[in-house]
Amino acid sequence: MSDPHPPLRSYGRLKTRTIKPRQAALMETLLPTIRPPTTAFDPRTLMAGASEAWLEIGFGGGEHMAAQAQRRPDVLILGAEPFQNGVASALRHIDEQALGNVRVLDGDARELMALMPAASLTRIFVLFPDPWPKSRHNKRRIVQAETVAEFARLLQPGGRLRFASDWGDYVDWSLLRLTANPAFRWTAEAACDWRTPPADHITTRYEEKRLGDCAPVFLDFVRA
Ligand SMILES: C[S@@+](CC[C@H](N)C(=O)[O-])C[C@H]1O[C@@H](n2cnc3c(N)ncnc32)[C@H](O)[C@@H]1O
Repeated sequence: MSDPHPPLRSYGRLKTRTIKPRQAALMETLLPTIRPPTTAFDPRTLMAGASEAWLEIGFGGGEHMAAQAQRRPDVLILGAEPFQNGVASALRHIDEQALGNVRVLDGDARELMALMPAASLTRIFVLFPDPWPKSRHNKRRIVQAETVAEFARLLQPGGRLRFASDWGDYVDWSLLRLTANPAFRWTAEAACDWRTPPADHITTRYEEKRLGDCAPVFLDFVRA
């Protein structure tokens, strides 16, 4: 039975520019081969010998996802992104770098999360999500008590969640909701811990645009 109260749309446009022919071809050929299953699945089974499974929500152009996958070929990285131009760009990175450890859903991460078992992920990235700054739109933000509970369900004890944003109000909003969930412990000890990009961070395309109202803030949490 379909959900009578599906979550509100948390993303903006699905497509802007025309997708370049080479990327359009990858949407037809590569994407169907790396889409995760549409029924319940354990992400660790998607790649033989995977040591861990990570999830990136809203990967944009896929630069961060591809660079992390390049660094850690032993990790299966799942990415979800409904923005078609972003998916097409990510496919180009996956193809050019011959990444065998990335799986891509061209859709809503919340649908993907619902299919995975508890404690099946070791890292979740939510990097520069759509800010929905007007208060009447705040309910569209991906970080809500419900999604935080879902992050807690999916992460193994000791697993890590990274949230980053350059919108001050969204940082406060997320900090409030993440610290309200007893499953998460914020790792910061001093201001430099949230003001300085973490050592393993890869600058994203959206981050470079500096469209927000503050310098980028990075919140790292550990799953208890
Ligand atoms: C502001 S962009 C940032 C993209 C990228 N993380 C970066 O930093 O360059 C936010 C992205 O999140 C995606 N997004 C929003 N809601 C989503 C959802 N429910 N599941 C997956 N992606 C989502 C949007 O389509 C958009 O591309």
